[in-house]
Amino acid sequence: MAITTCVFDAYGTLFDVSAAARHAAAEPGREALAEHWAQLAEIWRAKQLEYTWLRAITGAHTDFWQVTQDGLDWALEALALSDPALRDRLLALYRELSAYPEVPGVLSALKSAGIRNAILSNGAPGMLDAAVSSAGIGDALEAVLSVEAVGVFKPDPRVYDLVGARLGVAREEVLFVSSNGWDACAAAAYGFRTAWANRGGTPVDRLMGRPDHVITDLRGIPAIAGAA
Ligand code: LAC
Repeated sequence: MAITTCVFDAYGTLFDVSAAARHAAAEPGREALAEHWAQLAEIWRAKQLEYTWLRAITGAHTDFWQVTQDGLDWALEALALSDPALRDRLLALYRELSAYPEVPGVLSALKSAGIRNAILSNGAPGMLDAAVSSAGIGDALEAVLSVEAVGVFKPDPRVYDLVGARLGVAREEVLFVSSNGWDACAAAAYGFRTAWANRGGTPVDRLMGRPDHVITDLRGIPAIAGAA
């Protein structure tokens, strides 16, 4: 079946999750962060995701904005960088993360070829709206779907169900694109066609399902979707 719809994960896939720490580190007076920003970004992201999984399996949902703050607080404390002004700045930057450079061109190529584009993300609606609008990609997206509609994080299948329910498409006509290996594996097991954007050059996750395509960034997506 031909691909009619591309569904993108947001954080790490469209939006550069390390940009907040990187940008803050380049600001004047941030010498301590300048030395550790990459480590901060990595620990922040790892804790944020770990908390989503733990909250999903224990049924203790809270939204992704809260989990993002909790992960940041843990990471700042672990690196002895706790400071309320720095925390506020990092969170403000996180709400307006930059998109990876290839993202606008890829979305517009897909849209011009008649493919429908959507986001399916753990992100809370307010975070996603802010990031989509600061990245200027809203016009290329038909829908921005948040897990808040089902109150549980990925990879719970109820999250992937949102695509069919909201867009009225069959699983096999969807190309699901994520840079998170575990998300790509879970989406493959769910029945979507999948592309894993392996931006970090890491091994494939040993989980249920394997991605159909492994690429290094999103530039190959129009060809995979039959739009180029
Ligand atoms: C998301 C996280 C997993 O956007 O990156 O859903």
